[in-house]
Amino acid sequence: MTQTPLRALALFGAAAAVLAAPAAAQPAAANLEAGKARAQAVCAACHGANGVSIADTIPNLAGQRVGYLESQLRAFKAGTRKAASMNAIAAQLAPADITDVAAFFGSLAPGNLAAKSEQLPNLVKTRVTFPEGYRSTFRMYQTVNRADINQVRYLYANPVAWQAAREGRPLPAGSVLLLEQWAAKLDAERKPVVGAGGFYTPDRLVAYAVMSSGAGWGNDFPEMLRNGDWNYAVFNPDSTLRAGVNQADCLACHKPLDKINYLFSNEPLLAAAKR
Ligand code: HEC
Ligand code: HEC
Repeated sequence: MTQTPLRALALFGAAAAVLAAPAAAQPAAANLEAGKARAQAVCAACHGANGVSIADTIPNLAGQRVGYLESQLRAFKAGTRKAASMNAIAAQLAPADITDVAAFFGSLAPGNLAAKSEQLPNLVKTRVTFPEGYRSTFRMYQTVNRADINQVRYLYANPVAWQAAREGRPLPAGSVLLLEQWAAKLDAERKPVVGAGGFYTPDRLVAYAVMSSGAGWGNDFPEMLRNGDWNYAVFNPDSTLRAGVNQADCLACHKPLDKINYLFSNEPLLAAAKR
């Protein structure tokens, strides 16, 4: 159908009205500098400052379409696309921040697909040390079956954390939480063998995940990732520090728990300590 001149004029009028709408009602132009600053401080920890990611499991952002990047960030923010770390990060991005970072990464050249970016030194560096002798000084307060990965996990708190939990105080500097990760014993059908209390029977120690806090320890992390003054680390079964762990992963996933000491197990800890 062809438009009559009158109808075209009416449409033009409507478009002109939209163009003349007050600035606040219009999508703001992207601020590339702001997008770049955020990308370098936060996103770079996983996606690289130039949008070339640090690992095969993390998508490159350089050269992707701006509209696609924006739609994915909105989906992460809304929770309709699920990935714990990205949900936590996108939740902290205002609409204008999404426009800015998407425009920045979309403006970059795709680069060599085989390349990887370096991890950010401030997110690799950890102040956590292995708590030798923890089994005799820490309190074990929770056991968790992880059906998704056939693991059973034991959670421990040091005396500082335990005492604060007992008194209902926020966990202070000097608190240490340790999580033992055990591969569960599997039966002939490769299903976990369930033992006392419905918990999987531990077979082999896989790793220790530890979080520990100290005054000023969070200062080196960008605000969007920072968990107060907590630092994170993974230790091998022989208690040596596992190299190459990206604290950005730990920080991003634990970040939404900012009201409850950044602990997934805050409630079980409080309940156990008050018993
Ligand atoms: C802790 C690591 C980490 C940080 C920090 C991080 N991301 Fe991500 N991002 C990921 C991972 C992992 C995925 C893949 C998620 C999935 O499994 O769907 C992802 C996916 C994305 C995607 C979807 C890409 C695609 O190809 O579909 C976008 C867009 C994105 N991130 C943007 C950002 C922006 C912008 C920032 C900084 C504000 C950021 N990310 C910070 C780890 C991170
Ligand atoms: C995908 C989200 C996610 C990431 C990433 C993550 N954690 Fe956790 N963390 C959890 C969950 C969920 C629990 C509760 C126990 C469980 O289900 O295994 C937990 C529990 C813990 C605990 C016991 C205290 C608490 O919060 O309940 C420690 C210590 C810990 N994690 C350390 C780490 C370290 C170190 C890293 C980084 C190497 C890390 N976490 C990365 C989700 C995550």
